[in-house]
Amino acid sequence: MKIAPLTVLAVGATGSIGRLVVEVALAQCHAVRALVRSEAKARLLPAQAQVVVGDVTRPESLRAAVDGVDAIVLTLGADGLGKAGAEQVSYGGVRNVLAALGSRRARIALMTAIGVTDRLSRYNLSTEAHDWKRRSERLVRASGLPYTIVRPGWFDYNAADQHRIVLLQGDRRHAGDPSDGVIARRQIAQVLVCSLSSDQALRKSFELVAEKGPEPKSFDTLFAALDADPQGALDGVRDLPNMPLQDEPQYVRGDLAAVAALRVADAV
Ligand SMILES: NC(=O)c1ccc[n+]([C@@H]2O[C@H](COP(=O)([O-])OP(=O)(O)OC[C@H]3O[C@@H](n4cnc5c(N)ncnc54)[C@H](OP(=O)(O)O)[C@@H]3O)[C@@H](O)[C@H]2O)c1
Repeated sequence: MKIAPLTVLAVGATGSIGRLVVEVALAQCHAVRALVRSEAKARLLPAQAQVVVGDVTRPESLRAAVDGVDAIVLTLGADGLGKAGAEQVSYGGVRNVLAALGSRRARIALMTAIGVTDRLSRYNLSTEAHDWKRRSERLVRASGLPYTIVRPGWFDYNAADQHRIVLLQGDRRHAGDPSDGVIARRQIAQVLVCSLSSDQALRKSFELVAEKGPEPKSFDTLFAALDADPQGALDGVRDLPNMPLQDEPQYVRGDLAAVAALRVADAV
């Protein structure tokens, strides 16, 4: 199938997944813009990528990055920065990118993590990483933008013969170790980029793992087998209802209202 070329912004472009997103998007003939914090790190990226310097915690630095894009792939990571990093980068970064986009329309592919709805694990209790990533998912769903949310399993823990893609919904694997599922980094990038051009992936949230078997020829059939998130829902289809909106921090509720208002303003 011929894919229409898009202008794709990669947010987290210098990361272990983001670099592959840039490569895969270029290989699919998309024009790629890479948001980077440092020009020095941008040298890791292919020369065909357009580099824009910015920091997702500085909203004013994002305007040029989002200008004229058709699609945005977000693979931010703030590992090691604790609760503040999770809040400011994984969550605040997504909020700031959506705000910079304003009322313009762009297809969104957001990477979070398998287990993102598990609130009671020691990992989440100490880092709040799941909670802030889940809140970033909620911002994307509330935005009214066309989206796909990808929750990968453990990066590159797959054996050499594990390339058969399995997409799950409801986020019920909460062991907190690779028994939850494994996936090659390159396949994560492929799924994120391919979702941008797939009507079958629209409004879908899923866990992404690989099992024994060959890689699929196309992702569309896999996307088509999934249920879409209910219209207007904040959580993924069949997610645990364990993050009641009324218990959320007031500013988070304000961010959800603000991001929803961007599209409403557009429709008026
Ligand atoms: N490891 C696993 O098995 C696994 C499984 C599922 C999900 N995850 C999740 O995946 C994420 C890690 O992905 P990864 O390996 O690609 O991460 P990574 O290599 O650490 O890359 C993170 C990216 O985010 C960028 N970034 C961080 N703060 C930023 C800011 N303020 N402004 C702009 N960009 C910023 C980094 O830029 P710099 O290069 O400038 O730092 C980098 O490009 C983590 O959040 C993790 O929880 C991991």
